[in-house]
Amino acid sequence: MVEISPEPIIVHSEEILIFLNRAAIKLIGADSQEEMIGRSIFDFIHHDYHAIVKRRLLAVGDKDKDNYLEFVPIELIRIDGENIATEISSVEAFNFLGRAVIQSVIRDTSARKRNEELLERTEKLSTIGQLAAGVAHEIRNPLTALKGFTQLLKSKYSDPYFTIMLEELNRINLIVNEFMLLSKPSISDMKPNHIKILIDNVIILLQAQAISNSVLIVNEFTENMPPISCDPNQLKQVFINIIRNAIEAMPNGGNLTIHSEETPEKLFIRFIDQGNGIPKEQLAKLGQPFFTTKEKGTGLGLMVCYNIIEAHKGTMFIESEQGRGTTVNTIFPIQIS
Ligand SMILES: Nc1ncnc2c1ncn2[C@@H]1O[C@H](COP(=O)(O)OP(=O)(O)OP(=O)(O)O)[C@@H](O)[C@H]1O
Ligand SMILES: [Mg+2]
Repeated sequence: MVEISPEPIIVHSEEILIFLNRAAIKLIGADSQEEMIGRSIFDFIHHDYHAIVKRRLLAVGDKDKDNYLEFVPIELIRIDGENIATEISSVEAFNFLGRAVIQSVIRDTSARKRNEELLERTEKLSTIGQLAAGVAHEIRNPLTALKGFTQLLKSKYSDPYFTIMLEELNRINLIVNEFMLLSKPSISDMKPNHIKILIDNVIILLQAQAISNSVLIVNEFTENMPPISCDPNQLKQVFINIIRNAIEAMPNGGNLTIHSEETPEKLFIRFIDQGNGIPKEQLAKLGQPFFTTKEKGTGLGLMVCYNIIEAHKGTMFIESEQGRGTTVNTIFPIQIS
């Protein structure tokens, strides 16, 4: 019964493992039971939880009390060193020559915890987005006044400074508008759009970051790129995430080439950077929520990209060579009308 139970179950006595069912072996990432038996349970319990477990082991063997202990959260450490969030309940199975034999049932709560974290972070992100949109809105009104008066001054005086001021104000205006559009709650709005225009708009937002990293963005777009049926704001999010990643991967500068190519049915957009590349063992993790190697990264950028592209019936795949750079390939279906 215990052996085939889908729930991981272990039996231990005096802190030493004496039995694990199949589900428990799988959870801990071991190959066989033999590998585990005789080892201390504390080898697999996160250090922060040692004190709690010690207290529970005393309580479960206490003759004067009910010897069933409810599920409590305990973090375990798998064989590969990865932490997993679990909940564990324990009961004294029997007592053998004064030694309590304890059966513990483990529930893997890591998926649930990840989802909760994801929800929390996404909520936080959207709050920040709303705040930023509010700020952008506040900037727009004074900007309109500044533009108007600068135009007036320009018509009165022939100073070239006013032309420069107007150009710069227009740039701020573009950025603020783009920002407000992006932070609008996205109701799916599928229409034919020119990807080239979407990417050009996104570059306006990211140009400052590119320049400060000495990154040159080179467009290699085909002449008559066909329009794609898409939600422009969602695709802009995708391009922002990809381009930001590329810029962040080139802290000492380099080129980011954005290349397009099309067949009668598909549009290929490739983002080729000369950054530090991605180690092979990390390639498979790209797009997993919270996978990040950056101190301030959320690790949600690529996940969002995959989701949006999938919703557009497109595909995305990443090729990378360490030390040479990374290419993010996106492919979109072209609607034949
Ligand atoms: N062009 C790239 N070159 C090198 N590494 C990359 C590139 N794109 C993504 N990565 C790697 O993939 C990880 C995940 O990227 P993702 O965009 O999902 O999150 P992030 O950039 O770390 O954080 P966020 O996008 O939320 O700021 C990055 O931390 C980085 O290690
Ligand atoms: Mg990113």
